[in-house]
This record gives sequence, structure tokens and C-alpha cells, in this order.
Amino acid sequence: MQPVAQMSGTPLHTHRPDASRTLLAGTCQVDLDLTRPVPPEVESIPLAAGLERAVPRRQMQFRAGRYCAMRALAALDPRFGRSPIDRATTGAPVWPEGVTGSITHTDDYASAAVAWTAHTVSLGIDTERVMSTPQAQDVGSLLASAAELRHCDAAGLSSLEAFTFVFSAKESVFKCLHPLVGRMFEFDDVRVFGVDAAAKAFHVRIVKDLSEAFPSGTLLEGRFAVDRGRVHTGISLGTPWQS
Ligand SMILES: CC(C)(COP(=O)(O)OP(=O)(O)OC[C@H]1O[C@@H](n2cnc3c(N)ncnc32)[C@H](O)[C@@H]1OP(=O)(O)O)[C@@H](O)C(=O)NCCC(=O)NCCS
Repeated sequence: MQPVAQMSGTPLHTHRPDASRTLLAGTCQVDLDLTRPVPPEVESIPLAAGLERAVPRRQMQFRAGRYCAMRALAALDPRFGRSPIDRATTGAPVWPEGVTGSITHTDDYASAAVAWTAHTVSLGIDTERVMSTPQAQDVGSLLASAAELRHCDAAGLSSLEAFTFVFSAKESVFKCLHPLVGRMFEFDDVRVFGVDAAAKAFHVRIVKDLSEAFPSGTLLEGRFAVDRGRVHTGISLGTPWQS
């Protein structure tokens, strides 16, 4: 069977210029079409060890994520070129020296964001398709507490968007913090609150000691968007002098 996928959509490069107008962050996102052949520039991206026997859908998601990451790195600094991005034993991408970043993908979407570590200690991004009612009934109560859902309700999110948003926000927190704390933590160890639809912002409180640098009580701020049946969330940890 032919591998099936196609990238479409315009890569988005956003940036936050400082006084010298240096590019501080790069992002790239693509829509995926599982019914079309994979473009050669994506097909040629090497798979991480262990993915050679994965199903084509998983291989395509990995390559699409890496494609976005390479585009985002090139937006940050063209000298990064098309160097492959390794995968650590934890599953986290291994970024070039001086860079941090994050990758996410669904069946029809992939995205990556990168930033210089001089300005951003760590990043976590996550995109999820809005859950179906059976999915929310199956797992919703494991992912989101009644209090978290009330914060989402106050921000005008539907019940399915709310379950998906809380899940995604916690996945973003995990991707941002896991490389720093070096240990697993659970959905219950993180509480989402202060969801502000107008500002597309939310807050997170860590409620368990994850490390010396991230004790219980640590507060983080994230951004979110609900768009075309998808929920996008992101957490970025600035360097101390910025926070
Ligand atoms: C790893 C995990 C976060 C991925 O999230 P997901 O929603 O299933 O999948 P996404 O497509 O959004 O993200 C997958 C990407 O995350 C990245 N990733 C995987 N492990 C990671 C880690 N430890 N740290 C940072 N990023 C990681 C990878 O780039 C991966 O894509 P790739 O394998 O193609 O390179 C999730 O599967 C997981 O294991 N979570 C742990 C439990 C948890 O979230 N607890 C909540 C704590 S609040």
C-alpha cells in the first residue's frame, strides 16, 4: 500500500522581536491529508529508531512534526538548515544547542514551536481534536475536575471543548516541564484555572513538588485557541529576568 499523506496550508512564522529585532521564536503548522501521497521533502525525513515498523499514519505524523520543527528552526536561524532532530529516550525531541521547542500532531494537523533558550527556558505545545461525547464520557473525569470545568464554562467553552482544553493544557504542561523535572507526573498534579477567553489565556497551578525548581504552588501561564474543531494550547517558560 502506498504511504498516504499530504501537507497543505501556509506555514506560519510568528516572532516576537526585541529591541534589536532579532527573531526570538519560530513556529510552523501544516494541515495533513491522509488520502494524498507524502511530499518528497517530508518522505525523506529519517524516522527515529523504533518507528521503522510503525503504521504509516504514525510515521507520517512523526515526519510531519519533524518537518514543522525544521521549518520553525529555519525561521529562527537559516543556519539550522535541514539537520535531523533526534528523539531522546523519553520521547522528547533533541533540540540544537541554545534552542528549546515542542512538537504536536493529530490525524490532520502538525505543528512545532521553537525559541532561543537565552529567552525561553522551555516550551510545550499541544493540539487535540475536540473530543466526541463517548470519548469525554470515557476519560473526561480522569482528565478534568469539576472545578476546572467550571473555569472553562465561565469562559464560554462547550462541555466537549472544556474536556479537550483541560487535557491539552496538561499535555502542554507535561511537554514543557518533563524535560526540566525529569520525572513523570499525573493529570491530578496540575490544576487549570483562570481561563480567559478574550485574552485566550489560562493559568496552571502545580499541586505536587515536581523538583526543587518546580515546587507545589508554582504558577504557569498559557495561551489557547479553539479553531476548526481543534483545541490548541501552549505554555512557555521565560527566563527568570522576564517572568
Ligand atoms: C508524550 C505526550 C505528552 C504526547 O502527547 P500527545 O497528545 O499524546 O501527542 P502529541 O502529538 O501532541 O505530541 C507528541 C510529541 O510530543 C513530543 N514528546 C514526547 N515525549 C515528550 C517529553 N517527554 N517531553 C517533551 N515532549 C515530548 C514528541 O515530539 C512527540 O512527537 P514525536 O514522537 O512524533 O516526536 C503524552 O503521550 C504523554 O505521555 N503524556 C504523559 C502523561 C501526561 O500528560 N500527564 C499529564 C501531566 S499534567
